[in-house]
Order: sequence, then C-alpha cells, then structure tokens
Amino acid sequence: MSKQDTHFFNVFSMVIGLLVAVAIVLFALARVVASRTQDLQALSEAQYSKYVEARIRMPAQEAVAGQDNSALAIKTEGPAAAGSAATAALPKNGTDLYEQTCSACHGQGIAGAPKAADKAAWGPRIAKGKATLYEHAIKGYQGSAGVMPAKGGRTEAPDELVKQAVDHMVQMAQ
Ligand code: HEC
Repeated sequence: MSKQDTHFFNVFSMVIGLLVAVAIVLFALARVVASRTQDLQALSEAQYSKYVEARIRMPAQEAVAGQDNSALAIKTEGPAAAGSAATAALPKNGTDLYEQTCSACHGQGIAGAPKAADKAAWGPRIAKGKATLYEHAIKGYQGSAGVMPAKGGRTEAPDELVKQAVDHMVQMAQ
C-alpha cells in the first residue's frame, strides 16, 4: 500500500468509527427518552387498561344455549359506554357528571388536562379561586396546557351541575 492509501484508509476508518459511535449515542438517547413518556405510565394504570379493553371489545357476541353466558353481560363502564348513556339522561350530580364526562380527559390527564387527584397539577389552579375554575369549566378555556371545552362538551348540562363536577375534582385534589 502506498503512503497515500494508508492515510486514506486511516481517515476513512476514523470517519466510519465516529458515525457508528454517534449512532450508538443516538440509540441510547432514544431509549432514555422513550422510557419517560406518559404512555408507559398510562399503560400501567388499571383504569386505563379497562378503557382500552372496553374500546377494543368485540362489537357483537353470541350467547350459547345451555352454557354460562354471564361473561356477555355488557359492562357499562368507561368513557365509551358513558358516551351512549350521556345522550339518554343527564347525570344526577357533579360526581356522576365527572365520571361520565370530565374523567375522559381528567381521569388520565389526557390532552394536557390536569389529572384529577394530582395535587401538584391542581394546586396552582385552585389558587386562582373557584369562581375562575367555574367560569373556565362552563364557558371553556384555552390555557397553556391545552383546550378545556365548554362544560367538557356536555353543553346541555346545567351550570350548577358543572360547578358540582368542579367541586368534586377540587375535592379529589385536596
Ligand atoms: C376534552 C378533554 C376535556 C374534558 C372532557 C374536560 N376537560 Fe377540563 N380541562 C381540559 C384541559 C386540556 C384543561 C387544561 C387547560 C389549560 O390549562 O391549558 C382543563 C382544565 C380544566 C379546569 C381548570 C381550569 C383553570 O382555570 O385552570 C377545570 C376546573 C376543568 N377543566 C373542569 C372540567 C369539568 C368540570 C369537566 C366535565 C364537565 C371537564 N373539565 C372536562 C380538558 C378537558
């Protein structure tokens, strides 16, 4: 090999080696970032898994005569089931409204919604005063974290009921 070839070979190997090192660093970095996403926490939550199960459940099931069909009983839990019940009847109180509507976002802290019972997330909000929280819940609110739709999308719900739902969430965070 000529001296020039040797030089080229050395530089070439160094560049390849450097690129491999960068690739390894990026891979490690990606793993670190991926291990801290909200997804992971959400997946480990029993309530969340229950909702997913409800959503991916078979749309139709068949009862077989002479066998135990109790597993076919429709479970009326989760946001999906609540959605259909929502059009039927207005919830009786703030807790019910929370369970049916608000928990869809606030239950797991979806789309930037402050998670119910998360003291750190609610502390500064509660500090703004109930009147502000009521108004934001009833009329809707665009904050830095996301969009809070008016009445959580249940526009037919009376203001009083929405206030009770706010009270319920504030109570959960105390
Ligand atoms: C579609 C998702 C969604 C639903 C459903 C929802 N919220 Fe929210 N809510 C949000 C988001 C996002 C925020 C945070 C907005 C921000 O601060 O950027 C929020 C914030 C709030 C706040 C704090 C407002 C403030 O001033 O800090 C209250 C109170 C609240 N929601 C009440 C409710 C109530 C009561 C319901 C049910 C009737 C409900 N939300 C349903 C998404 C939702």
